[in-house]
Amino acid sequence: MTENGSGRLLEVADVVSGYGEMEILHGVTLHVDRGEIVSLIGPNGAGKSTVIKTIFGLVPAWSGQVVFDGEPITALPPEQIVRRGISYVPQVENIFPSLTVEENLEMGAYLREDDFRPQMERIYQMFPEIADRRRTPAGKLSGGMRQMVAFGRAMMLEPQMLLLDEPSAGLAPLVVELIFETVVNINRQAGVTILMVEQNARKALEISHRGYVLVDGRNRVEGTGRELLANEEIGRLFLGG
Ligand SMILES: Nc1ncnc2c1ncn2[C@@H]1O[C@H](COP(=O)(O)OP(=O)(O)OP(=O)(O)O)[C@@H](O)[C@H]1O
Ligand SMILES: [Mg+2]
Repeated sequence: MTENGSGRLLEVADVVSGYGEMEILHGVTLHVDRGEIVSLIGPNGAGKSTVIKTIFGLVPAWSGQVVFDGEPITALPPEQIVRRGISYVPQVENIFPSLTVEENLEMGAYLREDDFRPQMERIYQMFPEIADRRRTPAGKLSGGMRQMVAFGRAMMLEPQMLLLDEPSAGLAPLVVELIFETVVNINRQAGVTILMVEQNARKALEISHRGYVLVDGRNRVEGTGRELLANEEIGRLFLGG
């Protein structure tokens, strides 16, 4: 075990980034400790997805630093970041609809040169809903099951950390429950640290160790899930009263 065997896993320090000439993140700072579920909430257009994309190397940081497992990853491309143990589940288009469930999982293992079957079986055990459908094209599944496939695909490389962008978006209330339970299972059973963006702020904070509120590309408030749920301003702005 390294000196980072416990404690800080991801550190985002004063990150500035954007698209073209347009600065979207004006210096965002956050961290995720090993074993945590941390939620990033805030209004539409606040820059939540941009934070995730900047961490994952899809959007270059103009300044500031991203450190993972004790090493800077700020300037690395996504495929290098994946190799270091971070998997990303995008908000949309996170599966290959014409491929079967199993083929989607195989795609998730593309960087592995060892035998990925044992991990695939562990994933089917974690997500029994998709195990029964392994020969079905993923595009034929319900929204909730497609999200399970996306989780499973991201898990194929046995990541230390998952970046989830709005995993419950567009799903029916009962399915939303299932998705949040699944996130908790991935965290507790598989021991994966999670940074999650969510519109469903109340539910997200209920399962999160800590959370950050982002407004206009800047940190607004941070605290434990419980603190943020009890915060009057946050309640009024983001939790529906
Ligand atoms: N590829 C892009 N090119 C140009 N501008 C972009 C691009 N992606 C996002 N933006 C802009 O950056 C800002 C932040 O977008 P971002 O998607 O990070 O917000 P968000 O907090 O995830 O919002 P939402 O809750 O709607 O998902 C928005 O003004 C958006 O229009
Ligand atoms: Mg977004």
